[in-house]
Amino acid sequence: VNPTFIIARKRDGHELADREIADFVEGYVGGSIPDYQMSALAMAIFLQGMTAAETTELTRQMLASGITLNWPHDGIARVDKHSTGGIGDKISLILAPLLACCGFQVPMISGRGLGATGGTLDKLEAIPGFRTDLTVAQMKSITEQVGCVISSASAELAPADKKLYALRDVTATVPSIPLITGSIMSKKLAEGLDALVLDVKFGTGAFMKTLDQAGELAQSLVDVGKRMGLPTAALLTDMNQPLGRMVGNGVEVIEAVETLTGNGPEDLTELTLALGGELMTLAGKADSRQAGVLALQAHLDNGNALAKYQQMVSSQGGDPEASLSIAKQSVVTANRSGYLVGVNAEQLGQAIITMGGGRRVMSDPIDHAVGFETLARIGDEIEANQPLVRLFSHDHSRDEATKIIQQAFQIDDEPARPIDLIHEALR
Ligand code: URA
Repeated sequence: VNPTFIIARKRDGHELADREIADFVEGYVGGSIPDYQMSALAMAIFLQGMTAAETTELTRQMLASGITLNWPHDGIARVDKHSTGGIGDKISLILAPLLACCGFQVPMISGRGLGATGGTLDKLEAIPGFRTDLTVAQMKSITEQVGCVISSASAELAPADKKLYALRDVTATVPSIPLITGSIMSKKLAEGLDALVLDVKFGTGAFMKTLDQAGELAQSLVDVGKRMGLPTAALLTDMNQPLGRMVGNGVEVIEAVETLTGNGPEDLTELTLALGGELMTLAGKADSRQAGVLALQAHLDNGNALAKYQQMVSSQGGDPEASLSIAKQSVVTANRSGYLVGVNAEQLGQAIITMGGGRRVMSDPIDHAVGFETLARIGDEIEANQPLVRLFSHDHSRDEATKIIQQAFQIDDEPARPIDLIHEALR
């Protein structure tokens, strides 16, 4: 088929046939369809959308561009969690070892920071020696020996996504629900999973700014998971303020370790356990989310989760005992009294980029030592000059980061309701 004809059909709002989607993706990955035609199709998809059947076929073809991990039929369930990204989201570091303690295997493929949101791989690389560029064989063997691994997507797993994402990034076609669905689900399906839970975030620090948009994305992800035979659930969660207190790279690893000992912030612990509990229900290992939460909590309290995390870090070349280098401390204070009514979490992510803890372009190096700790939550009463944030920064970017952070905290005369973290579950 002529690629121009397929682009025109999508441009005019028609539903593409499976064969058309398959030919286009195969042609693009194989090199016979050039970037400019894929760009045009991506924009047509962005503007016209796709049906669940089309999105599923797109995902299937992106998955088929690479290999799928295959596991022995040994009764062990392989599971994973994926988050659409937020500020202070270090849940993967806690949940992967925690699930391994419950007898699951977790072959987690993670990403780097995108825009203002941090990435799990960048955080883990704050640990001296930690390697995230594992081969498929290394990923498999650590998963089987330790129970969990966190690595980057190698060229063998869903290579279509790597190529297409780079193109979307420079053609303003990233925020398209079918394209995001294909991107996320092709990578997760390549892990050869038995169950998947998604943390779909909405709010000032999320990709999707509104609950409606996040709900639509969550439904698309769950639909494609089901149509591809993978039991999938999604929680819609609030990202209108950072998750936990620490934001950055090294400081988030420190907070994840605290949480693994059962001493983490309440919101971070609650969401980690809820996602894990949901996954245990999906995999048939718990009768309800609450039963799963109790089983998981026991492994935080008895030290098993921390030991499993340390084992994973060692097996990936990292030193779990190493103290992480953290930049010099200062405080950001409130410029007035009142109540904390809102936080621009995306701006807080920008402050991290300003300090060098995130990227402007993909090739930027990451400074793992910078970050901050939030000292106030939405709903709190605030006094003028009270510390809002403990900043970890270098001299050259401290003033600019302080200014951005101060502006991100919205203080008003009337109190606001504290945030409900978990909104809804889709199954
Ligand atoms: N995360 C992904 O992996 N892909 C997208 O398209 C968006 C977010």
